[in-house]
Amino acid sequence: MALEGLSGKVALVTGGAQGIGAATVRRLLAEGMRVVSADVQPSRHEGDRWLGVEADLATEAGAAAMVEAAVTRFGGVHALVTCAGIRGTALPIHELPVADFDAVMTVNVRGMFLSMAAAIRQMLAQKSGGAIVNISSLNARRANPGRVAYNSSKHAVIGLTNTAAVEYGPDGIRVNAILPGSVNTGMSALADQTCSAAGWRMDYTQRPIPRTADPAEIAGFIAWLLSDGASFQTGGAYEIDGGATI
Ligand SMILES: NC(=O)c1ccc[n+]([C@@H]2O[C@H](COP(=O)([O-])OP(=O)(O)OC[C@H]3O[C@@H](n4cnc5c(N)ncnc54)[C@H](O)[C@@H]3O)[C@@H](O)[C@H]2O)c1
Repeated sequence: MALEGLSGKVALVTGGAQGIGAATVRRLLAEGMRVVSADVQPSRHEGDRWLGVEADLATEAGAAAMVEAAVTRFGGVHALVTCAGIRGTALPIHELPVADFDAVMTVNVRGMFLSMAAAIRQMLAQKSGGAIVNISSLNARRANPGRVAYNSSKHAVIGLTNTAAVEYGPDGIRVNAILPGSVNTGMSALADQTCSAAGWRMDYTQRPIPRTADPAEIAGFIAWLLSDGASFQTGGAYEIDGGATI
């Protein structure tokens, strides 16, 4: 059964070329939404309800281009899912070059801020509310060693989410964050490799659901948070991690 209130609406998905973003694009299309996915990489897009835009979302121009594409092609913006993110170099704090710290913060925090600001401006102009889902991480609850920039950036996502939730709740814009555990994507494969190279092993077998997630399992929760089924949910930070945090 289709989720309530999604069909026909327009969603922006950042980082939509692969991983969780690509799974989200597929799920939102299956729910009948029209989708603009934006990524630094080209995305293969098909059909008359999906437009892929090549854009660096850590820049104002990139975020504006994503919104403009949605307005021009589909007439507006009702939802935003911010999946664009990078992990960065794995080094302890005292060895990490500041440029590497800045690179992660630029995409994961500045980029998310810019995407939200551009989408919210359009939603306010339309006066029809909206819904935003920001992708944080289990790393906002539990720090991985060697990941100071990534861990910090994922804590900052909660701050971006909560601030937007209080600022735009009265305008009918709901803003939530999700905190995925380990998901089968290129990013997690790389993270596992660098962690084991540093002598730190990810042990999924000790978790209540003893495996990593498929990106489609994350996309399903995102779609629900965008839907009318979640009409009273805002400012939430939802772990979707197979019980890893309990
Ligand atoms: N994979 C996991 O285990 C996991 C767990 C928790 C949270 N997350 C978060 O989920 C999000 C998606 O992760 P993923 O695993 O799908 O990663 P991924 O590397 O497969 O996909 C990320 C996408 O973001 C794009 N991107 C990076 N910088 C960009 C920029 N400046 N502008 C536009 N696009 C840009 C990349 O090109 C890529 O397509 C990230 O924010 C990540 O931190 C992932």
